[in-house]
Amino acid sequence: MSQRVRLGVNIDHVATIRNARGGALPDPVRAAVLAEQAGADGITLHIREDRRHVREDDLFRMVDAVKIPINLEMACAEEMLAIALKVKPHAVCLVPERREERTTEGGLDVAGQHDHVAPFVRKLREAGVRVSLFIDPSVRQMAAAQSLGAPVVEIHTGAFCEAHISGDAARIAHELELIQTAAKDGAARGLEIHAGHGITFDSVAPVAAVPEVRELNIGHFLIGEAIFVGLGQAIAEMRRRIDLARGEA
Ligand code: PXP
Repeated sequence: MSQRVRLGVNIDHVATIRNARGGALPDPVRAAVLAEQAGADGITLHIREDRRHVREDDLFRMVDAVKIPINLEMACAEEMLAIALKVKPHAVCLVPERREERTTEGGLDVAGQHDHVAPFVRKLREAGVRVSLFIDPSVRQMAAAQSLGAPVVEIHTGAFCEAHISGDAARIAHELELIQTAAKDGAARGLEIHAGHGITFDSVAPVAAVPEVRELNIGHFLIGEAIFVGLGQAIAEMRRRIDLARGEA
């Protein structure tokens, strides 16, 4: 299978550990530099309204510290737009956000919230930022993403990864088929296809093997694995599994 899949490493949860004690350590920027050295193709971070993990100063320092592209995940909110327009990262991924959720539960309903999302896509694109929309694996959402003029979509793989953990073969097959169908549909519409959320060593291969997928964004599992083997080794092993799934190892 052709075309190497890029690996974006999400370092949010280094900041989660830092914030547990309120000090400066561990520094998520140090993790981003390490990830770059370990072969990450990009750094992803999510600034939430409640700043539960990364903060503006992390983003500002990160932009200076790494050379690989930075992908800022943010909600469609004026406060976040102002930050993004100030920093102008390589990419912004628009995600849904609910204060009470533990993590991003489900994709952004770009079909239902078309008019709310549209000005964010437009203003970011006008500023030269590549916009992606984090959506559930659905043809309806792909059609809406296309009509919004976003060049990239990121398919939410959370339901697939949860099915994978459950071990229920029928559920796994169903969720994977949704991803495969949506990826094919999106690519046919000219959208670049990314995927992410909940991916582990065990669940990465079927997603990486979806031919239209160009980039995976992986965070929580890699930071957890880093506790045991170090961040460099965790990233290298994820890279190896992605390449193997593409028939490139
Ligand atoms: N992609 C998007 C859009 C996300 O919001 C997240 C979680 O912040 C991820 C990927 C990474 O998910 P995980 O941390 O579960 O690997």
